[in-house]
Amino acid sequence: MQRARRPAPARASENARHCNGTTERPDTSRPDGYNRISMKIIVTGGAGFIGSCFVRLALGNPSLEIVNIDKLTYAGNLENLESVANHPRYRFVRADICDLEGLRRIFAEVKPDCVVHFAAESHVDRSIFAPQPVFETNLRGTFNMLETMRAHRVERFIHVSTDEVYGSLEEPLEADEQFPLQPSSPYSAGKAGSDLLALSYHKTYKLPVIVTRASNNYGPFQFPEKLIPLMITHAFDGKPLPIYGDGMQIRDWLYVEDHCQAILKIVEKGRDGEIYNIGGNRSLPNKTVVEQILAITGKPSSLIEYVADRPGHDRRYALSSEKLQRETGWSPRMDFERGLKSTVDWYRTNLEWIAHVRSGEYQKYHDQNYANRNQELGAVVSEPRP
Ligand SMILES: NC(=O)c1ccc[n+]([C@@H]2O[C@H](COP(=O)([O-])OP(=O)(O)OC[C@H]3O[C@@H](n4cnc5c(N)ncnc54)[C@H](O)[C@@H]3O)[C@@H](O)[C@H]2O)c1
Repeated sequence: MQRARRPAPARASENARHCNGTTERPDTSRPDGYNRISMKIIVTGGAGFIGSCFVRLALGNPSLEIVNIDKLTYAGNLENLESVANHPRYRFVRADICDLEGLRRIFAEVKPDCVVHFAAESHVDRSIFAPQPVFETNLRGTFNMLETMRAHRVERFIHVSTDEVYGSLEEPLEADEQFPLQPSSPYSAGKAGSDLLALSYHKTYKLPVIVTRASNNYGPFQFPEKLIPLMITHAFDGKPLPIYGDGMQIRDWLYVEDHCQAILKIVEKGRDGEIYNIGGNRSLPNKTVVEQILAITGKPSSLIEYVADRPGHDRRYALSSEKLQRETGWSPRMDFERGLKSTVDWYRTNLEWIAHVRSGEYQKYHDQNYANRNQELGAVVSEPRP
């Protein structure tokens, strides 16, 4: 793997100003641009859906160098990063954030200026069937990241979280950043716990922590266990489209690139110790999203199949990203209908990617969650497990 040379360390204020490169430093010497690197970012979970989008986007900025730490779980896929694999300002390190000593070694060698922490077990249904990996990665892994940061100080630590920590909201409520946390699933409880832990490291140890809470993401490269890619791939195959319960659960949809642009803005302009909501301003019931996918793919609505609801399924998420818009000028650019159509097009032209990620371990989960759903869920919610 090629490495970029580390330039002389920048002062903190310079880093903060230049970290998303909107204000580029003058290129003082080498024509290859290496001397223009002003910020080295460690990204965790950069082989996943959102992390890989962030890596691809950030590398478009000549001031940024990215080191991607990922364990490559079932959700981590280096094919998501094929387009940047040999980029001179990019490096991949396979590592588990649950390995504290390993993290310390990587940080001592890389000496990052900034960390964007995406790595997590990110799927609610998996967290219901098997909560332990959620505890390990989302809580212990985040704790390890924060502990590592105490020894290797950085300019920014962005902890990427979710609107699910606010739990289900009645109409017409919208969560701002002060809204009480009422998580419902092991996944959202793990994220809420890690948010609070991260913020405590700001209060107690003065670490430059920022927490972001985004709504439901969609777009290319999303693993087909999540609603939109699952429905798209089933529609392509003419298979039933399984909707949980009555399908009237409301989610706010955010295009993945808009999310990553927001994070870059926060790296640049966010304030330490703060929380920033990131929403797509587009709330829709799941059923409507599925109907739109059927319309785009030209498949009949008879493919819709209602299946047993998720235990503890939140009815409605809604959040306000007014603070982020006011402080950074960010707003989502992608209109949902256009984003959904281009997402369907992306999956249509990447059938090989779908075939690869759907093999093996994914198939086991899919059968557990859909083929034998009633039986498997019955066992999970009624029997205590060791
Ligand atoms: N997908 C959404 O709609 C959404 C919305 C808001 C917030 N988020 C948050 O954004 C982050 C990324 O979500 P995503 O949808 O891209 O997830 P994802 O499941 O697609 O990717 C997670 C990545 O983390 C890696 N990973 C998991 N455990 C690890 C470990 N122990 N050590 C190192 N790497 C590990 C995986 O290999 C994978 O590459 C998560 O923190 C999630 O909570 C997601």
